[in-house]
Amino acid sequence: MKRIAVLTSGGDAPGMNPALRAVVRTAVAHGLEIFGIQRGYQGLIDGELSPMDARSVSGIIHHGGTILRTARCPDFKHAEGRARAADRLRRLEIEGLVVIGGDGSYRGAYELWRDHGTACVGIPGTIDNDIGGTEYTIGFDTALNTAVEAIDRLRDTAASHDRIFFVEVMGRHSGFIAMYSGLAGGAEGILVPETKTEISVLVAALREASARGKKSMIVIVAEGDDAGNAFDIARQVADSSEFKDVRVSVLGHLQRGGTPTAFDRVLAARMGVAAVEALLTGASNTMMVLENNAIARKPITEAWETRNLFDPDLFRMNSLLSV
Ligand code: ADP
Ligand code: F6P
Repeated sequence: MKRIAVLTSGGDAPGMNPALRAVVRTAVAHGLEIFGIQRGYQGLIDGELSPMDARSVSGIIHHGGTILRTARCPDFKHAEGRARAADRLRRLEIEGLVVIGGDGSYRGAYELWRDHGTACVGIPGTIDNDIGGTEYTIGFDTALNTAVEAIDRLRDTAASHDRIFFVEVMGRHSGFIAMYSGLAGGAEGILVPETKTEISVLVAALREASARGKKSMIVIVAEGDDAGNAFDIARQVADSSEFKDVRVSVLGHLQRGGTPTAFDRVLAARMGVAAVEALLTGASNTMMVLENNAIARKPITEAWETRNLFDPDLFRMNSLLSV
């Protein structure tokens, strides 16, 4: 293998830049030529590829976002789009592709390999931590720390005014950020898409906490909760209980940006090096995972055939601790 390419795809995640840096510099160290593809699969279809070298990734290790930019590309879900993409790679004699993204991006890589035999290796970059087969994805730790910092701030004002705050964190299908930030922030309630939310149960828990002397409380709501968003849930609680002085704070895309934590940078470095070295040993249709704190390779299909779920016992621990 002489020439490879790298792209970032799907929702961005803090740590994509250090992952890109690791991929480019590992390629250079092994004597490979490497091309950076702008705007994910869309840029690949449109031919936005340019050579990178060690200096192209200088000064990015501490920046959120992705210097390659990212996109969602509906055309790549169709065979014609993938054929155009494969043709771009063929014309430049690119033999391997590193895809930094979430499970949607991995499905794209899998289909590119299936249709055209392109050797693809995935690096998990998403704040949701929902890729099957890996204990951590790059970006989760940073997003989590951003959410916890916000919760700490909201706790100050909630306590000053004896209020209940409903804090919405990201996670359309995954409650990882909600569960971990709730536990780390001492939340009195944590609502996630993985479990059914009953407003009456939540109100009962808030009443118990109030009876124990709590005057202010924090409820974390994952954006994909089945009972609605944080505004819906706050309204349902206020309408059905004595808790009227409620406030809502939606953290939104704040969680997607910012300086990647040391944990995410180290994970990005380890996975970036391993991904290029996997391509060099002939790996394809493979993803990098963290398992028992070691970097390992797994079939990319595991990303969506299995789910990374948090330990449900964390609910019990949180209610034990947030009394
Ligand atoms: P993420 O990678 O963060 O999960 P998306 O689900 O938006 O983000 O996927 C990113 C891109 O991957 C999509 O815009 C599309 O180009 C490609 N993709 C997603 N699913 C498929 C699929 N089933 N087949 C081919 N390409 C896909
Ligand atoms: O997958 C990462 C994520 O941030 C989810 O938590 C969130 O639901 C979604 O992306 C938001 O995506 P968009 O970039 O379309 O706003």
